[in-house]
Amino acid sequence: MIKINQACDLIIFGAKGDLARRKLLPALYKLEKFNKIHSNTRIIGAGRANWTKEEYIKTVKTAIKNFLNEDINEDIWNKFSLRLHFFNIDVHKELYFIKLKKMLNKTKNVIIYYCAVPPSAFNAIFQGLGKVNLNLLPSRIIIEKPMGICLKTCKKINDQISKYFLESQIFRIDHYLGKESILNLFSLRFSNSFFFNNWNNKVIDHVQITVSEEVGIENRWNYFDEMGQTRDMVQNHLLQILTIIAMNQPRDILPENIRNEKIKILRTLKTINSENINTKTVRGQYTSGNINGKKVPAYIEENGANSTSQTETFVCIKVDLENDQWFGVPFYLRTGKRLAHKYSEIVIVFKKMPINLFTKYNYNLSQNKLIIRLDPNENIKINFLKNLPGLHETYKLENDIIQSHCSKKTNENKIDAYERLLLESMKGVQSLFVCREEVEEAWKWIDPIISAWKQSSKNTLQLYTAGTWGPKNSDKIIMQDGRHWNKFDLK
Ligand code: BG6
Repeated sequence: MIKINQACDLIIFGAKGDLARRKLLPALYKLEKFNKIHSNTRIIGAGRANWTKEEYIKTVKTAIKNFLNEDINEDIWNKFSLRLHFFNIDVHKELYFIKLKKMLNKTKNVIIYYCAVPPSAFNAIFQGLGKVNLNLLPSRIIIEKPMGICLKTCKKINDQISKYFLESQIFRIDHYLGKESILNLFSLRFSNSFFFNNWNNKVIDHVQITVSEEVGIENRWNYFDEMGQTRDMVQNHLLQILTIIAMNQPRDILPENIRNEKIKILRTLKTINSENINTKTVRGQYTSGNINGKKVPAYIEENGANSTSQTETFVCIKVDLENDQWFGVPFYLRTGKRLAHKYSEIVIVFKKMPINLFTKYNYNLSQNKLIIRLDPNENIKINFLKNLPGLHETYKLENDIIQSHCSKKTNENKIDAYERLLLESMKGVQSLFVCREEVEEAWKWIDPIISAWKQSSKNTLQLYTAGTWGPKNSDKIIMQDGRHWNKFDLK
């Protein structure tokens, strides 16, 4: 069933905020450029500012200019700007929601609310909409992380939203699900027999997921210090990647079937607690260093920092899955801020052949790998062995690569995750959004890790210099199993 793009009223709560300016507005402009927005769709910024419509349009243009990776085209802008409206609102006062309803009732458009505000403001919005029946079907609501900082706080948000909205109306964003390479994981796995039939512990040795960032915490010290890299990146993005790699083939691509398979995987993750925390995890925090020739401060010297913080800016975790398909295949996850490069990849490492004709003549034959690069330049590579051309005394093998590019070549045509996800929400398709059970299962697995760190006197925070690949000990997690991280390769 293909759903087409519908005429919508997209209300962005938090019109002035970072998310709206950096991500949502440039993404909407791009959708305009690709002619993906229905001609009657309106985009309504909502916030406390006392802007006129004209002032809002001016701010939107500045945001798009600042955060779009190409020049604004005036024809596209003129068309786009006609959709823009501003609505002044205090989300704690019912009166404003009554006024909002009047404004929205003027069209038959599907209403979509985007809560681009801190979670502390979520409930007031849910309640305000509920009180005046703006929550009724077919309206939809989009929320973004952080969805709590633990299972308990996550449940609280879910309980609050579900008082007013059905699960089928709720679109929880994990922007990694909108990335080209993550979509490719589905098509690679479920449309190619050579991957499909070789996707288990008989053939796969282990999996590596690396998400390395150059950025620090970008003036979000208070937010980040409460979260740490585990809650900020692993609980959502890295676990989503893991579930898509490990899930069974769903019956079809309907959201509920995809989500059910992902939930099953989250339930098979082996618990990490104070008994195994030291062999399964390493966490670190950056000290000052150099990135791209620029000096950067230590985490505890960032703006607004508390110099005694024990929050991790780097984490490496060995994850075991307890099911027949994946038993014995570790998934090594690592992610950190202020590392040497922005570089993210998934590496599926295949087992060595039990008997290999060529080992006698070639020492250290490398293992086959499927590498899916998320950043920079989304691509897929297959590493394999072949003959080194020429006259040799005997077989001489070399490692070679088949490579395929997965994103459009030019920046202007590249699709950003938010473009895809906004479009999907306008179509009303939930496959690329996360459901309640998924987020809660993820927290169930993360919570014991964080409490084990608090209890363990041995598992101390390792310092690493900004601009390196993280604490030296992070290699220990993979090397203790006789394995090593895939070599960083920008090609
Ligand atoms: C966000 C995190 O969800 O993802 C940020 O809050 C992080 O801390 C960002 O920097 C990374 O996203 P991307 O798409 O740049 O890999």
